[in-house]
Amino acid sequence: MRLSIAYASAVMALMATQNVHAATTTVQVSDPNGGLGFTPSNINIKPGDTVSFVFHGPHTASHASASNGCAPANPQEFNFNGNSGQVFNHTFNTAGTFNLYCAIPGHCAGGMKGVILVGSGSGSSAAPATTTTSGSNSNSGGGSTSDASSLSVKASLVAAGAALLGFIM
Ligand SMILES: *[C@@H]1O[C@H](CO)[C@@H](O)[C@H](O)[C@H]1NC(C)=O
Repeated sequence: MRLSIAYASAVMALMATQNVHAATTTVQVSDPNGGLGFTPSNINIKPGDTVSFVFHGPHTASHASASNGCAPANPQEFNFNGNSGQVFNHTFNTAGTFNLYCAIPGHCAGGMKGVILVGSGSGSSAAPATTTTSGSNSNSGGGSTSDASSLSVKASLVAAGAALLGFIM
């Protein structure tokens, strides 16, 4: 009995650990001096991780084509149009290479581009993803929404762990 409780606890601890892996990486969109760039411009994240785009001025953080880093991807997984004080969070659920650029004329040519590598970086990018927005003068959906999907994942993991515990005991 003691052994099975220990085993169930270990399984549940493992489940909890997996949820901890989801991370948030912050990318600065321009800077307080109006620089044309993303900082950092090249990031490598895991599927399920979130990128938080922090805007400093009127720019976009947009998904660029694989063949032309200064043109929109089709389909386009993300396209945030924001200004100073706005933050857009986007969760990448699928592995792939996502080029990043600012769609304001001249900005990408001026160097405002980057690459978001999710997982190994191969594969397609046509997957459902979640987006949250905060800040005042939003022109890309507006308002503030919260993401319930990770909460429900957590809840189902707990349910699975409880069921397992009941089964073992
Ligand atoms: C976006 O992510 C940042 C960093 O994790 C967090 O502080 C902020 O609350 C998030 N905003 C929204 C609207 O979810």
